[in-house]
Amino acid sequence: MAYPVMFNPFFLLMSLSILLIHLTLYQAVNGGFSVNLIRTKSTNAHSQRVMGTTYTNSYAYLGQHLLELSIGTPPVKIYGILDTGSDLIWAQCVPCPNCFKQLKPLFDPKKSSTYKNISCQSDKCHQVYTGACSPENMCDYSYGYADSSVSHGILASETITLKSSEGKPVQLSDITFGCGHNNSGTFNDHEMGIIGISKAPTSLVSQIGGNKFSQCLVPFHTDTSIASKMSFGKGSEVVGDGVISIPLVNGISGSSYSNLYFVTLLGMSVEDTRFDISNNPETIRKGNMLIDSGTPPTVLHQKLYDEVFNEVRKQVPMNPITDDPDLGTQLCYKTSTNLKGPMITMHLEGGDIHLSPIQTFIPPKDGVFCLGFSNTSNEDIGTIGNFAQGNFLMGYDLEKNVVSFKPTDCTK
Ligand SMILES: *[C@@H]1O[C@H](CO)[C@@H](O)[C@H](O)[C@H]1NC(C)=O
Ligand SMILES: *[C@@H]1O[C@H](CO)[C@@H](O)[C@H](O)[C@H]1NC(C)=O
Ligand SMILES: *[C@@H]1O[C@H](CO)[C@@H](O)[C@H](O)[C@H]1NC(C)=O
Repeated sequence: MAYPVMFNPFFLLMSLSILLIHLTLYQAVNGGFSVNLIRTKSTNAHSQRVMGTTYTNSYAYLGQHLLELSIGTPPVKIYGILDTGSDLIWAQCVPCPNCFKQLKPLFDPKKSSTYKNISCQSDKCHQVYTGACSPENMCDYSYGYADSSVSHGILASETITLKSSEGKPVQLSDITFGCGHNNSGTFNDHEMGIIGISKAPTSLVSQIGGNKFSQCLVPFHTDTSIASKMSFGKGSEVVGDGVISIPLVNGISGSSYSNLYFVTLLGMSVEDTRFDISNNPETIRKGNMLIDSGTPPTVLHQKLYDEVFNEVRKQVPMNPITDDPDLGTQLCYKTSTNLKGPMITMHLEGGDIHLSPIQTFIPPKDGVFCLGFSNTSNEDIGTIGNFAQGNFLMGYDLEKNVVSFKPTDCTK
């Protein structure tokens, strides 16, 4: 940066205060800590949809993983969807003329002594892709998702408290979040917002000041009393036998998904039958798969989806259900026990990720198991959804720019 800017006293003051905040936050997580996640049954994908294409998501009653955190002073509990596919933390706020129904009370900024509005001149407002000036000079944000869910409100800063599974709560001050006054979409009444954990400066991970975190999501049909787990900072490294580390590919810079986590999918196998996206790997677009904890199914481009679908159908020694309109065009089977389906492998640039039936066959209702994949007409981007992420200890190392997968029983 040019000297004249560096020596501007105002600039110095600003950068110093930003540095101080980061220093305190970093100290807070220096020792690292873990939190439990809660699960809900809901239908939808909330992640920002890449390149404006939507996809069929006909799964009913499917799962999101919720992170409990408290906002404000005195603290108010918020359960937000854990979403690697989104940049911002937001919660529904009073007044809420246009909100979805939630069971627990809404967060009321007027009742919190630590609530501060962020002005639209603030750098923090510029960190939000859609930050704009409200008539009162506040930072108006609006944030849209894959399934056309929207949150619209005012950017604010607050004290946030995370319940650590080690017992001691972790308190973080001056955390930027969206106070959503106008939110709609496909949320269920247990959900109160979204906790974005992308690489964006506004995400929870960035604001904690850490550059690594890990998650261990329990498979979808685990008893809801068993929590998934997430760790931040020291102790969240994923190491040891069986770890597969895949390089992360940066999203297109300047786009609304520049801070999301992408890997490159080369092809898929159903047992030993392999389907490549292209005969010439050089022609495959780098970063063609988004890793998204906020989308339940794994979303594949139509051609690969059809190939995998047909091969699974060929290999499962049962007749699929064809007479249940609830199931749409999904590939589903009636069985009282976990389906004994084929192993499905994702061939990623950097390594192969093997998915067993517990990660690929999802029971949308009792006694029915469906292939947890979905299709998109978008050739450029697919999604590794949260069903497939179950029973992997997944470590994100933002310094080395890799995501590591370690097969793990996340219910233990
Ligand atoms: C997904 O596949 C089904 C059946 O194979 C098809 O009817 C539907 O149009 C596809 N959806 C998209 C978004 O490509
Ligand atoms: C924040 O902004 C809103 C709307 O602009 C205003 O009603 C509210 O009083 C402000 N709160 C604080 C603490 O400044
Ligand atoms: C809320 O959002 C809806 C749809 O996005 C819009 O029509 C309406 O004007 C918004 N209301 C407020 C108060 O921002």
